[in-house]
Amino acid sequence: MARDLIEKLSLTGDLSDGELREIIENGSYDGDLRLAADGKRREVYGDEVFIRGLIEFTNFCKNDCFYCGIRRSNGRAVRYRLTGDEILACCREGHGLGFRTFVLQGGEDPYFTDELLCAVVAGIKEEFPDCAVTLSVGERSRDSYRRLRDAGADRYLLRHETADPAHYGKLHPASLSPDNRKKCLFDLKSLGYQVGSGFMVGSPYQTPENIVADLRFLQELDPDMIGIGPFISHADTPFAGFANGTAAMTLKLISVLRLMFPRALIPATTALGTVDPRGREKGLAAGANVVMPNLSPVRVRKLYELYDNKICTGEESAQCVACLRTRVESVGYRIVTDRGDVRRATQL
Ligand code: 5AD
Ligand code: FES
Repeated sequence: MARDLIEKLSLTGDLSDGELREIIENGSYDGDLRLAADGKRREVYGDEVFIRGLIEFTNFCKNDCFYCGIRRSNGRAVRYRLTGDEILACCREGHGLGFRTFVLQGGEDPYFTDELLCAVVAGIKEEFPDCAVTLSVGERSRDSYRRLRDAGADRYLLRHETADPAHYGKLHPASLSPDNRKKCLFDLKSLGYQVGSGFMVGSPYQTPENIVADLRFLQELDPDMIGIGPFISHADTPFAGFANGTAAMTLKLISVLRLMFPRALIPATTALGTVDPRGREKGLAAGANVVMPNLSPVRVRKLYELYDNKICTGEESAQCVACLRTRVESVGYRIVTDRGDVRRATQL
């Protein structure tokens, strides 16, 4: 790949649409691009890797996204919900293992009203005042986001999935609108959350132009966290027959993201580790600086199945952390016990 493109991206943090497309279509992930991204990541975050304890607390979902294994039309999904006490027990275990961020993720489950979810968040913050709580529970009203923020939630993850409205319409039923999703993200930001967004790589019908639009949307939003992972088909969804996204494209985009958003918190995702057994290690080496081990009770792990063959569904939390620690160190980084807030320019 043209050295000068990588240099320009490193120096200015931006490229023209055509130049971005050139990297997306013809760039290789494991060369100068990766080295430039790793250099940038070390400038801002050194060798530190932040861990987030992921608690998948409900797989009920009222939505019907075509790609997702827990979509409401999937009658074969076995549904579960954790109680507030069960969620707290996961946090307790996680705190002992060194986690200072808990990510509560679930489908869009109307059972978890504002009242109930606020009580869960407040309970966690009360017992673990030194920890950040991240929510990842989809689209809600601004008022609901406000209440959850008042209850103590610090961060929110809501991938935009794809910034192109026509592409959005191919991945989602008409009841879901790309405008509302974007509005949610700006609402969250204005309420003072640290916000994460992102998209799937290699989702059905995705074009290089779509990916450029994703990068442009992220520039507009300027999120603190950016999560991307390969699309992986799930046998019980309308997209069962589609090819998976690749690790190579995901890694290339992680490097591009690191160079465009030097301070962003970028996870090496479970989906990346699912398409390639060393995907998460490669993701870190490509510029990612976060890993999100699963803290859900082992008995429900397999049920939170957004895509086929998800890794880490049989391991206890402690095993996952030990395994990840070794993996992180194998590529020259180290896991730290820290909330891992975004590093803003003034702190450097
Ligand atoms: N493959 C990969 N990622 C998926 N997600 C949902 N379904 C899939 C799939 N089949 C991602 C979406 C969502 C996040 C929680 O998981 O991007 O925002
Ligand atoms: Fe879960 Fe390796 S990280 S088993």
